Amino acid sequence: MTRSQKPLTRQDFPSGFVFGTATSSYQIEGAVHEDGRGPSIWDTFCREPGRILDGSSGDVACDHYHRWEEDLDLLKELGVDAYRFSLAWPRIQPTGSGAVNEAGLDFYERLTDGLLARGIKPYATLYHWDLPQPLQDQGGWPARETAYRFAEYARIVAERLGDRLASIATLNEPWCSSLLSYELGEHAPGLRDRRLALAAAHHLLLGHGLAMEEMRALGKKADLGIVLNLSPAYAASEKAEDQAAARFSDGYLNRWFLDPLFRGEYPADLWETFGEQVPDVQAGDLDLIRAKNDFLGVNYYTRAYASADRQARPEGAEYTHMDWEVFPQGLTDLLVRLKDDYPVPPILITENGAAYPDERGTGSTVHDPARVAYYASHLAAVAEAAQKGVDVRGYFAWSMLDNFEWAWGYERRFGLFYVDYATQERIWKDSGRWYQALLTGAPVAAD
Ligand code: FCB
Repeated sequence: MTRSQKPLTRQDFPSGFVFGTATSSYQIEGAVHEDGRGPSIWDTFCREPGRILDGSSGDVACDHYHRWEEDLDLLKELGVDAYRFSLAWPRIQPTGSGAVNEAGLDFYERLTDGLLARGIKPYATLYHWDLPQPLQDQGGWPARETAYRFAEYARIVAERLGDRLASIATLNEPWCSSLLSYELGEHAPGLRDRRLALAAAHHLLLGHGLAMEEMRALGKKADLGIVLNLSPAYAASEKAEDQAAARFSDGYLNRWFLDPLFRGEYPADLWETFGEQVPDVQAGDLDLIRAKNDFLGVNYYTRAYASADRQARPEGAEYTHMDWEVFPQGLTDLLVRLKDDYPVPPILITENGAAYPDERGTGSTVHDPARVAYYASHLAAVAEAAQKGVDVRGYFAWSMLDNFEWAWGYERRFGLFYVDYATQERIWKDSGRWYQALLTGAPVAAD
């Protein structure tokens, strides 16, 4: 791969560019019964037989709830400018509405202050999928009321932490918490109903809009925005049916979220395709949804390679342990397309990374050359987009730690640090050392 051969330095990125790592609450915290936390839809989902590959759950995960100080020390050693984490709504409002559980909010206050004390900027996400179970019992995201509950929760967090957080993202990847969860059945609550999924997607976006309004009204310092997972779609061939498949993929994965957020409308082609299953959009919804964001967070892992038979695979392609194609060019193409097609605010790459079947071995460092190559090529792709005029201001490696990878349980490792789950030791990987060298200014050796 030619891109990874040229050593990268911070000078390859725009001045002020922020480098960080990302995690999320349910994937690392554990301590699901502590300090008044209520149950979330993931606690329930993990208990349903067959949902999680290794039958595991986030009950203990990386035990970060107890080890957070040690983890922040590691972040400091890593040399990051910023750390992206999420807050568990059920720690803060155990039933999803009503009184605040102070102990839950206190945890995130300690975390935020701990980051600031170490000179690391806190980037928070309000919703990384752990919906309080009582809200699911009342209909979950397909119920419009959930959007109003979310806005209330957003206000609670922004009131307490909005002057100390550098950034607050409302939602992480609404595609996952709607279509993947309510239509494709892979994530909690595991349903298979397109109508419910499209209602969920609309109410997530509405919840974002309402939360932005609540938080803006407080006038706090944090930048406010949203995080989307986007995968540029490429047709497997010039054939009309493959081109149509690519257009559908682009609509289903990307435009269904980008168009309402940045144009104030749903894409007409998909609206027609979805027919009777489209959501109930009420007067004023789209104005709320399209309100100004200070940033757009982009999570990029791979592209969509579309063909009418859904079977085509690009020739000679390389895949990660998730069976996701390694395709750094897609990240440059995606960023340039966002700039060209939408009036987007400054962009942050809020997640990017790769799973490989790492093994601890006997040395002090875990060797993960494929992940180093992945990071090198994707960071080069970001630098290239910046050179092409995209206003991209930060990059967060997914993830700091190996963690609970949702339906894949602990069977997929994404960390810069290896986690030995039997002992909870954190062990540096080569990729962590590589990132550290980039961040701390030491020249990065070609891999
Ligand atoms: C993203 C999620 C994140 C992690 C990565 C691999 O879709 O936001 O929690 O699971 O994928």
